[in-house]
Amino acid sequence: MAETIILSGKTVSQNVYKSLQTRIDSLKFSGCTPGLAVVLVGDDPASNVYVNNKTRRFNKLGLYSETIRLPANIGKDELLSQIQDLNSDGSFHGILVQMPLPTHLNESVIIDALDPLKDVDGFHPENLGRLTAGRPRFVPCTPKGIMRIMDFYKIDLSGKHVVVLGRSNIVGRPMSILTSLKESYSNATTTICHSGTTDIPYHTQQADILIAAIGVPEFVTSSHIKEGTVIIDVGINRVEDDSEKGYRLVGDVNFDSVNEKASAITPVPGGVGPMTIAMLVENTVEAAKRSMS
Ligand code: GUN
Repeated sequence: MAETIILSGKTVSQNVYKSLQTRIDSLKFSGCTPGLAVVLVGDDPASNVYVNNKTRRFNKLGLYSETIRLPANIGKDELLSQIQDLNSDGSFHGILVQMPLPTHLNESVIIDALDPLKDVDGFHPENLGRLTAGRPRFVPCTPKGIMRIMDFYKIDLSGKHVVVLGRSNIVGRPMSILTSLKESYSNATTTICHSGTTDIPYHTQQADILIAAIGVPEFVTSSHIKEGTVIIDVGINRVEDDSEKGYRLVGDVNFDSVNEKASAITPVPGGVGPMTIAMLVENTVEAAKRSMS
């Protein structure tokens, strides 16, 4: 049997950074340093790690980024006023509000307040609407990164059956739209499974490409898939163990269980994760370029 291919987001993201560098240099030469504002409300440890990884990458590439740390008990009006300030601040071409927000804040209200031209996450309804209409502006970073991995490894989606597990606005929903667009890079038949799906294995067993984004540690096992399925594991779950850190990271897929049956799989870590940041950089560079014209 052929060996399972490891789809390395680490490798693909390095490729993205290499090709972005010329665009970044040329923008900076024209006097524009792409800038990102990251809004972090509260002190969720996982969000803290993500935000630090994002800003580290921006610094490494010579881009501008600032993290606005706000207390967990901030009121809606104060947060909206912060976002208005960032919308009108010309040094920021992109604004990212790290999710999830504390439960007293309605995420939709906050997302609606973002200038859609600075919404590098692609979460604003105008950007999601454009994607749905087949006229994308900013495509959400994780789904965009997954498409880039499949392009890099020449996984052709056209005519394939893609099954997406999860319907979040961040990953599952936009992923289902992207994979079914009438475009040469897409054109799949897409099924989306979620908490209301009665028989998940029935659907996943038919997948040529399975995209797991449900946030349940090691949910997908070999009994969920057919021989040769391509698996994209979006999950990054902390599972307690007796290591020094006190936890280990696992995906939504039980890697050891599916490893021999799948034809290709993204690892956790080093799969989808690095691509989310790479696409955030790309979207911010695009936002900066757009602001110049
Ligand atoms: N939380 C988990 N993933 C993301 C993401 O891609 N963007 C934002 N803003 N928050 C997240």
